[in-house]
Amino acid sequence: MTDHKHNLSFDDWDEVNFPRPAENDFDRVVERALSRRGFLGSVLAFGSGAAVMGTGLLKGSTALAESHAMASRFPFTPIAAQTDETVHVPEGYSWKVLTRWGDPLMSSAEGYDLAEGGALEGSDAVFGENTDGMELFSFDGHEIIAVNSEYTNNDINLPAAQEGVPAGADDVLKLQNLQGVTVMEVAPGADGYSVVVNSPFNRRLHHNTPMTIAGPAAGHALLQTEADATGTASLGTFNNCGSGKTPWGTYLTCEENFNGYFGATGAFEGFDEKVMAGYERYGIGADGFGYDYHKHDARFDVTANPNEPHRAGWVVEIDPTDPESTPVKHTGLGRFKHENAEVVLAADGRVVVYMGDDERGEFMYKFVSNGTWAPGASTEGLLDEGTLFAAQFNDDGTGAWLPLTPETTGMADLAEVVIFARMAASAVGATTMDRPEWISANPHAIEAYCCLTNNSRRGASAGEVNGPNPRESNNYGQIVRWRPHDDDHASETFDWDLYVMAGNPDVYPDNNYGGSDNVTAGNMFNSPDGMAFDSNGLLWIQTDGDDSNEEDFAGMGNNQMLVGDPVTGEIARFLTGPKGSEVTGLCWSADRRTMFVGIQHPGGSWPDGEGLPRSAVIQVTRDDGALIG
Ligand code: FEO
Ligand code: CA
Ligand code: CA
Repeated sequence: MTDHKHNLSFDDWDEVNFPRPAENDFDRVVERALSRRGFLGSVLAFGSGAAVMGTGLLKGSTALAESHAMASRFPFTPIAAQTDETVHVPEGYSWKVLTRWGDPLMSSAEGYDLAEGGALEGSDAVFGENTDGMELFSFDGHEIIAVNSEYTNNDINLPAAQEGVPAGADDVLKLQNLQGVTVMEVAPGADGYSVVVNSPFNRRLHHNTPMTIAGPAAGHALLQTEADATGTASLGTFNNCGSGKTPWGTYLTCEENFNGYFGATGAFEGFDEKVMAGYERYGIGADGFGYDYHKHDARFDVTANPNEPHRAGWVVEIDPTDPESTPVKHTGLGRFKHENAEVVLAADGRVVVYMGDDERGEFMYKFVSNGTWAPGASTEGLLDEGTLFAAQFNDDGTGAWLPLTPETTGMADLAEVVIFARMAASAVGATTMDRPEWISANPHAIEAYCCLTNNSRRGASAGEVNGPNPRESNNYGQIVRWRPHDDDHASETFDWDLYVMAGNPDVYPDNNYGGSDNVTAGNMFNSPDGMAFDSNGLLWIQTDGDDSNEEDFAGMGNNQMLVGDPVTGEIARFLTGPKGSEVTGLCWSADRRTMFVGIQHPGGSWPDGEGLPRSAVIQVTRDDGALIG
């Protein structure tokens, strides 16, 4: 993801503009990095854990050698890295586009102009830009996909505007319409799946869609604005990144880099101290990321509406089967830069939601409901009443979930705890992480995984070297896995190890930048990000990293999707995206014979071969029609 105005990723932009204060002893970090004692200590912990968890990390470890000798569960021949402008899948598999940014959901929307993009009129009735997390719902004989549109590439969304800078309210409204969530019915035909245009389920939710605010912060003074004195009704859902799915069949969309939509036309003088501290920690400044909403839509001007940013940064629940339903922002799940929301049930039926905050040096969280759920039972309050925890990882391979409450954090009330969840997690001493992205739970074991995508600026303050984040400069990323004690996701303690440390064994054959033992010249990748288990218990890993294919990244090629076996540790490359793109978002058809994959911000003229590049959802099938997940 790149902010074209500043030519920085959103994360880089926040790090440059709102650096985190150093929270650790610098000398200790340097000593660890130089001696690698910290790293080796961790690896030894993984080594002993390997006997239990089936995977070892040390190069040449016996556990890995033995596991590699086992038969592979992957029914395909892995593909090579690619650097071209199209999608590749293994022999015996095929792909085709399902839908692209600008494709009509309703026949009332105008067609898409390959040179000029879409018109303002109808921009809220087309498939949104920059596809991301998605889930498929089977309902009453229909298949419905809910899918996020994370952000806009202003230079291609506003091709007539000077360098993508919005010229007025119409440009801003078009950008607002193209982001958010698309709900669309899809149906199989002789030539694969297609979108059912004009289906009554089709719906766009965007930056002006009415939402309800629920949970402990609902109605709080910090959420009240001039337009909504109740603090319970907001407009829009923002920077919708990863997704989640509840057991009761609703969609969770996760608001990530929401801060970049806000700006200020005046000075911050006279602002409440607490509000300003929040702006600092969440990266809300005068300019934003270049959307320039605040210059043309006063709601996004914090000079006029200082509490509006508090109404974003949440997990939002949407009923994809009812186009008239009002989405709900669940404040109990905390306010931060949400990646995705992985929902599992505890042993007693309580609802557990695992979540990552994607910024350098931020934290992993989980929410545990007070109430329990059973099929057909009420879902009232299940995502509102409960406890929010932040993760602490110990270097000895154990960890704990630290409850965030007024008592543990010293904050005034639970509303402030969730509104300023980042500060709450800092207050209890949670473990800083290398950018937590997607979390996925294994359907066949009580364990979960989180992509820690990379951290190339640690020296600039963003989080310390520690057990699950063992490399000082981390261009490649890693995936941490934890097993809750007592085989219960509600447990407040766990054991952890690293499932994989990405790396480049060609460039760094002799140190930990070569990656863990399950990384080879044939499967190497960087920056794991999207992730989902399939019904067979295989782990699909998507990347959003450096696709230069040079220097540290030589041999990795374009961003890609791999599949991992959690038992053997084996990882194989399944799909490569077009140059410039990120592969993100994954779900399956009801019969599991089609896999839907998101291709975000492609380069060149993909997928049309001419005109503007368009993010798209593709469908992948096996040529023999067999199951694909
Ligand atoms: Fe939207 Fe952290 O990726
Ligand atoms: Ca992501
Ligand atoms: Ca990413």
